[in-house]
Amino acid sequence: MLQPLKHGLGAAGTFPWRPLSWRRARLSTRGRGLEDFGTRLAAGPTLRHFLRNASPPQETRHQLVEELEPYVPSSILEGARRKVYLETYGCQMNVNDTEIAWAILQKSGYLRTHRLEEADVILLVTCSIREKAEQAIWNRLRHLTALKSKRLRSQAPLRIGILGCMAERLKEEILHKEKLVDIVAGPDAYRDLPRLLAVAESGQQAANVLLSLDETYADVLPVQTSPDATSAFVSIMRGCDNMCSYCIVPFTRGRERSRPLASILQEVKMLSDQGVKEVTLLGQNVNSFRDTSEVQFRSAAAPGLSRGFSTIYRAKEGGLRFAHLLDQASRVDPEMRIRFTSPHPKDFPDEVLQLVQDRHNICKQLHLPAQSGSSRVLEAMRRGYTREAYLELVQRVRDSIPGVSLSSDFIAGFCGETEDDHQQTVSLLRQVRYNVGFLFAYSMRQKTRAYHRLQDDVPAEVKRRRLEELISVFREEASRANGAMVGRSQLVLVEGPSKRSAAELCGRNDGNIRVVFPDTEMEDGTGSGAVVRAQPGDYVLVKVTSASSQTLKGVLLRRTSLRESAAHR
Ligand code: 5AD
Ligand code: SF4
Repeated sequence: MLQPLKHGLGAAGTFPWRPLSWRRARLSTRGRGLEDFGTRLAAGPTLRHFLRNASPPQETRHQLVEELEPYVPSSILEGARRKVYLETYGCQMNVNDTEIAWAILQKSGYLRTHRLEEADVILLVTCSIREKAEQAIWNRLRHLTALKSKRLRSQAPLRIGILGCMAERLKEEILHKEKLVDIVAGPDAYRDLPRLLAVAESGQQAANVLLSLDETYADVLPVQTSPDATSAFVSIMRGCDNMCSYCIVPFTRGRERSRPLASILQEVKMLSDQGVKEVTLLGQNVNSFRDTSEVQFRSAAAPGLSRGFSTIYRAKEGGLRFAHLLDQASRVDPEMRIRFTSPHPKDFPDEVLQLVQDRHNICKQLHLPAQSGSSRVLEAMRRGYTREAYLELVQRVRDSIPGVSLSSDFIAGFCGETEDDHQQTVSLLRQVRYNVGFLFAYSMRQKTRAYHRLQDDVPAEVKRRRLEELISVFREEASRANGAMVGRSQLVLVEGPSKRSAAELCGRNDGNIRVVFPDTEMEDGTGSGAVVRAQPGDYVLVKVTSASSQTLKGVLLRRTSLRESAAHR
């Protein structure tokens, strides 16, 4: 069951990004100062006014937009070199969203600071996936609002903003509860940040939590937080249509939409030109990618789902699919590794698996989020597969991609989960033997189907005990899986010094497992006999000497390249 999403003037009563007549209004008001803006804004409508006017009929919408424009002259939207401090919580999507938000603010004349004490604007990019994630942000907010209250009168006031999923979920609650929060911006409203901050400068709270059906920020080139990083995220789609019964994501991030392929490839190329050696294609549901922007592919047939898998929605016809994107992205630079996350197990047609196996620069690493090992619980979760279908997929993946590294997500203590269901998850963990795992205790989220239809009936201490058991079984099995690599050499992309010791370097192998090794001299790999030291961005061969559930340790053999090491596979 899909939640109808607000399009246009909606929940928070802000107007859509850049109405057609926007440019005209900006030009006619250019030159008036902040003071003037403040006076006019104070006399104008407040946030309450908009909330009262949420979702007016179409005609009224236009009127409202026209009325509003004079309150936002272009000069006001400029950051005037104010310093922004950004703090990111949650998943990799939020890391990428932080880069997008920053790219938009930088273009508006803001500066970035990594020191909280010198910030003029503090923005938290937030996560709502579990109660604990939100609690961390409420706590942080209390600290920041205390900081704001202590600002001297002689200083420019500090502005605080909540961005992302929690903003989307709790917009009014945040504004009511935390009067010192100035702006609230949902995941599809980052283009509106300069305007929201301009409104905040006049002392009013401002919010935009409109979800969009088509916003992908395709034209915004994210500005990476660490410019020297060897790897980068490239967002390829946003939102999710799956509606798993426990999950808040479809409500906070909205409907699934894909970014045009051409803009993705352009970004991958740009990153390659900058020397980035590994790109992770990102989205809530990457392998449902479907670019419908190119007319000639609009009627293409939908590829089949993985055998034994179903969806709550009808097959979506038309558009360029994930296999095509993967094919094209892996051709951009043969020395650039390609990963993708997070996929849904339903969308693994044979052609995707074949590509992963065939291309030397697509990592042989798949995330196959199982969530539970019990078919009964999987049905309650509305995952669209049984334990048997999932295990069949794992077998097909392992047959197609020998040596593939597998990771998964699991939820302990979902509604109605019995001890027997839990033991089935334990046995799935043992049977599949994942290399990497993300395990969570179930946290009920309002709005979801589970919240409305199911009972959160597993007591907290039982959830905790089951989670601990899953973690310990996962670790045991991962140690065995990783232990099988001892004595073998691994191709590692060097990231930099290890956290524990300056005498050691760390990087990741093809399976995305962390590898730590002493920073010693090695052969340069050209056969010239020259001796070099490994640098971030180098591919090196490391012989594994020991393994734990999370890390491999080893010794450097020599420098190499992706192509050369593939030739010797
Ligand atoms: N409670 C616990 N874990 C959750 N996840 C998603 N929603 C919840 C929830 N309500 C987990 C799933 C998902 C991962 C990103 O977070 O395992 O794959
Ligand atoms: Fe949430 Fe992932 Fe399910 Fe989408 S596929 S509803 S993001 S768990």
